[in-house]
Amino acid sequence: MSEISDLEQALLIAAADADSRNYESVKQSEETDDEGAEKETVESSVVNIQTQPKYKPKERLLESSDTPESLPKKLKGYADVVATHYNSIEEKGVSERSKSRIFYLRNFHNWIKSMMINEYLGKIKEAKKQHNSPIRVHDMCCGKGGDLLKWKKGGITHLICSDIASISLEQCKARYADMKSRAARDRGGGNSYSIEYICADCTRIRLREKFSDPSMKLDLVSCQFAFHYSFESLPQAECMLRNAAECLQPGGYFIGTITDAYELIARARKSDSDTFGNNIYKVSLDFDINKPPLFGAKCHFQLEDVVDCPEFLVHFPTLVKLAKKFGLKLVKTEKFKDFFERMKNEGRQLLTIMRALETYPPNEGATPVGVEEDDYKHAEEFVKNRGNEYAKVGTLSKSEWEASCK
Ligand SMILES: C[S@@+](CC[C@H](N)C(=O)[O-])C[C@H]1O[C@@H](n2cnc3c(N)ncnc32)[C@H](O)[C@@H]1O
Repeated sequence: MSEISDLEQALLIAAADADSRNYESVKQSEETDDEGAEKETVESSVVNIQTQPKYKPKERLLESSDTPESLPKKLKGYADVVATHYNSIEEKGVSERSKSRIFYLRNFHNWIKSMMINEYLGKIKEAKKQHNSPIRVHDMCCGKGGDLLKWKKGGITHLICSDIASISLEQCKARYADMKSRAARDRGGGNSYSIEYICADCTRIRLREKFSDPSMKLDLVSCQFAFHYSFESLPQAECMLRNAAECLQPGGYFIGTITDAYELIARARKSDSDTFGNNIYKVSLDFDINKPPLFGAKCHFQLEDVVDCPEFLVHFPTLVKLAKKFGLKLVKTEKFKDFFERMKNEGRQLLTIMRALETYPPNEGATPVGVEEDDYKHAEEFVKNRGNEYAKVGTLSKSEWEASCK
């Protein structure tokens, strides 16, 4: 118990002091900190965090009846901008998607999510004593439901889908209905899971109170390419982490993918400008790169000519500390490239099925997506070193790989 109180105190100090602190000062204090979990490196894009049995929720940030619309403007921050942005993104068909310059990059990210979800569902199943025990999952910031099929393949029992963008959530509902009717049509289509939807700002609303059963215990919470929105402010990050943690059973996992703040700041410093990128992505950092704030480190991503809404960099040591406050212990962080190296053999077949890599040299009649002179130099070199002029490899163009830290 004393461990938790001491921690909370330390975190409160961090909170009160947050505005005047920056990345450098926290880095220094990390070096004198001898808690194992807090000493992890901060280079991750894949984050896996496990619940510790001790946590008991104490305070609430907002009333459960609060919706983003009902909040005063001052409290809303960028919620409207974010919701409007995602609501306005058109859903594209397969053929339209395959014409995209970042077709393989998107598929590659999808492969990463699939492999990570499989890995952690595997751990959860292994830990369950009874073979048929239910598996309950929360897909936090689920968007249009891009991961619905992954949950089906993972054999889960129940899914909670939450997102701030109501139109995205409607599209998610339609996808689920479609998936269910296909499964009913196709013999051996597998069992579907039950589902519920929550339209709410996960950084401001206590989601548990909106669950069909607020006492429900979850095995896994997944937040893919979205957790960084909570780093707009300390209370928002805390609210999001509380939402992630408070319904997890002991031994359950919180998994996610986020941008690598250190990598982005390093790139900005290297380019001597707060705006940098290549022919497919552009990042603008909207803060002093020599003194990045812990919260509200606002940035803009532009990928394939689509300007994103404001996002925020996640200072990883702060995330680990805050997570600890809510009973979560860091299990693993990995960069995408390391995750790929670790999983590429196990996920080889899925890489092909999901078309997550581009074939080089291109197959007859195919045009490479990369247009820069050095987009495939690495692949060319690799094939040459194999000593087989007919060999083909799966790769990403250099420009896409550079953008993949997003
Ligand atoms: C990049 S998309 C990722 C969607 C999905 N997780 C996936 O991997 O396909 C980010 C999602 O986060 C949602 N989001 C952003 N801020 C949010 C917030 N404060 N509360 C709930 N959802 C939020 C957006 O509406 C959007 O659907």
